[in-house]
Amino acid sequence: DTHDFTFKILLVGDSGVGKSCILTRFTSGSFEENTTSTIGVDFKVKYLEAEGKRCKLTVWDTAGQERFRTLTSSYYRGAQGIIFVYDVTRRETFEALEGAWMREWDMYSTVEGAIQMVVANKTDLESARQVATQEGHDFARRHGCLFVETSAKGNVAVGQAFEELLAKILDT
Ligand code: GTP
Ligand code: MG
Repeated sequence: DTHDFTFKILLVGDSGVGKSCILTRFTSGSFEENTTSTIGVDFKVKYLEAEGKRCKLTVWDTAGQERFRTLTSSYYRGAQGIIFVYDVTRRETFEALEGAWMREWDMYSTVEGAIQMVVANKTDLESARQVATQEGHDFARRHGCLFVETSAKGNVAVGQAFEELLAKILDT
């Protein structure tokens, strides 16, 4: 377990947007069609090599459902990176980022200069899309966030999202 850096990364967003599937895709390379809602907090560890450094990422996955959430402030404490996830087929999950998740992060984040990313998931469901790529992109830029569109199901850009976030963390 030798490594140069350890980073805490968070996943947040409404229930059902695919946070747990993104984490499972990233850490195990697999996908589950029928998941259950996360209760409380889960976390997984993944090692990534970047800029010649071996980095240990502890990725935290919390419940999107209010009634399953606990220990909110300790969840956010010490995070160097946060990923705000929405589902491109449910516009209300996109709106909830600004309305709820970003506010909570502003309230509880403790690390100065932490890196933020917006992830638009479920791009495999193109015909049901309710948020255009450009709109997501503009929103992310307005909030000073990186932006990546993913499909946990189709294995599109999930690794890339974490790699981009890590690169930016290492550069600051
Ligand atoms: P909570 O734990 O309740 O906050 O939800 P969550 O954000 O962790 O969602 P979860 O990962 O459990 O996924 C919810 C549902 O969306 C599951 O049925 C997944 O199979 C499905 N899902 C996740 N990612 C994708 C994707 O990229 N494409 C499609 N089509 N379905 C997905
Ligand atoms: Mg979950």
